[in-house]
Amino acid sequence: MSTPHVVVVMGVAGTGKTTIGPLLAAGLGVPYAEGDDFHPAANIAKMSAGVPLDDSDRWPWLDAIGQWAHGRAGLGGVVSSSALKRVYRDRLRAEAPGAVFLHLTGDRALIEKRMAERKGHFMPTALLDSQFATLQPLQEDEAGVSVDVSGTPEEITERAVAALRRLDN
Ligand SMILES: Nc1ncnc2c1ncn2[C@@H]1O[C@H](COP(=O)(O)OP(=O)(O)OP(=O)(O)O)[C@@H](O)[C@H]1O
Ligand SMILES: [Mg+2]
Repeated sequence: MSTPHVVVVMGVAGTGKTTIGPLLAAGLGVPYAEGDDFHPAANIAKMSAGVPLDDSDRWPWLDAIGQWAHGRAGLGGVVSSSALKRVYRDRLRAEAPGAVFLHLTGDRALIEKRMAERKGHFMPTALLDSQFATLQPLQEDEAGVSVDVSGTPEEITERAVAALRRLDN
């Protein structure tokens, strides 16, 4: 039997990280952690005040996520983190070298539609534009898989489990 994966679910806002992450974790029989819960108090204060985070704010947050992932090494786990830039993923891997990435991809119109239907959240179109502009997809040398987010959460999760299984072969 192969070692359980520690999976970082990545992708632009609204792509379904928080929706798919727990379903994937349940499917794999491992714990899920929500990346947003790892922000230090200073980041929460900034975000509450509507001030965008810069990269210097992100490093301690990414380190905390990476430490959780490292703690699950050999045991398996799923954690969400948009991880849009390669340097963010490098930072996560510095803590958790064995982590694999699940990139949830989808066309912009679909994600925009889902975001518009999301209750209790407001996401201006410009923010989604900037997410797509920032996104650096997984590169050849990065362990991970990309899965399209059309269909139901259950279908996406099945696709993700199958893609992750293929990583072992
Ligand atoms: N497969 C799906 N079919 C229909 N709606 C979906 C699907 N996946 C997610 N959604 C809905 O789309 C919205 C965005 O999903 P979700 O919050 O999981 O994205 P996210 O990647 O965690 O976003 P953020 O980066 O803002 O945290 C939610 O309202 C969610 O219920
Ligand atoms: Mg989320």
